[in-house]
Amino acid sequence: MIILKSTDEIKRITDACRIVAEVLYEIQNITETGITTIELDRLAESFTLKKGAKPAFKGYRGYPASLCTSINSEVVHGIPSVTKLREGDIVSIDFGVYYRGFYGDGAITLPVGAASLAAGRLISVTKEALSKGIEKAATGNRLFDISNAIQRYVEGNGFSVVRNFVGHGIGRELHEEPQLPNFGNKGEGPELMEGMTLAVEPMVNAGGWEVVILNDGWTAVTKDGSLSAHFEHTVAITKDGPRVLTAL
Ligand code: MF3
Ligand code: CO
Repeated sequence: MIILKSTDEIKRITDACRIVAEVLYEIQNITETGITTIELDRLAESFTLKKGAKPAFKGYRGYPASLCTSINSEVVHGIPSVTKLREGDIVSIDFGVYYRGFYGDGAITLPVGAASLAAGRLISVTKEALSKGIEKAATGNRLFDISNAIQRYVEGNGFSVVRNFVGHGIGRELHEEPQLPNFGNKGEGPELMEGMTLAVEPMVNAGGWEVVILNDGWTAVTKDGSLSAHFEHTVAITKDGPRVLTAL
């Protein structure tokens, strides 16, 4: 069942999402050559606790950290570590909080120092794919219109969408119905209605879409070793169209 939210509930989800956006902004400002992802994780956690919120991922199905930090060919769910980021890496930062009864969820991919042309293009195509998907998050459309817009933009640029992970409804739970694949057919899926809140999150590989899970049980990497990027916003469907709740 898809849970529709009232204006008041959307306001409260927005409060959670603001903390997500602030943390991602802070992280963007300190991400540079030589920093470790565990340092980024500590910053995210202390900032969140100071705001009176809780990191949403820590402890979720046993996940050990506040952030997911996925470097280069890591797709999602990379675990923060003492490995230093190197010049030319790209790092995807995924972060969620729980605040006063509601969740917010967002992700960005950042270049470390100067990115290669290929990495820069992957990042901008993934970010733009998220925008293309969000544009379709409006009443009168179907859920897979979002999926299809993402897929077409990504594949039109020669990249592939990951199929093993999906976006999701979000609210009083981190993961609510519906599941939101990043591929699909226009005109299919549930009707989009005012009050739906969705985490839209394209994961895009420079090569093939297949992924492999590492022995840590979490880290998903591209099967062919190609680079991967991830952007995510929590979005509400309103009578005036899509509203991005995790915008900076
Ligand atoms: N943004 C991802 C999601 O919505 C992050 C989940 S990581 C986990 O599923 F650790 F919480 F599993
Ligand atoms: Co999510």
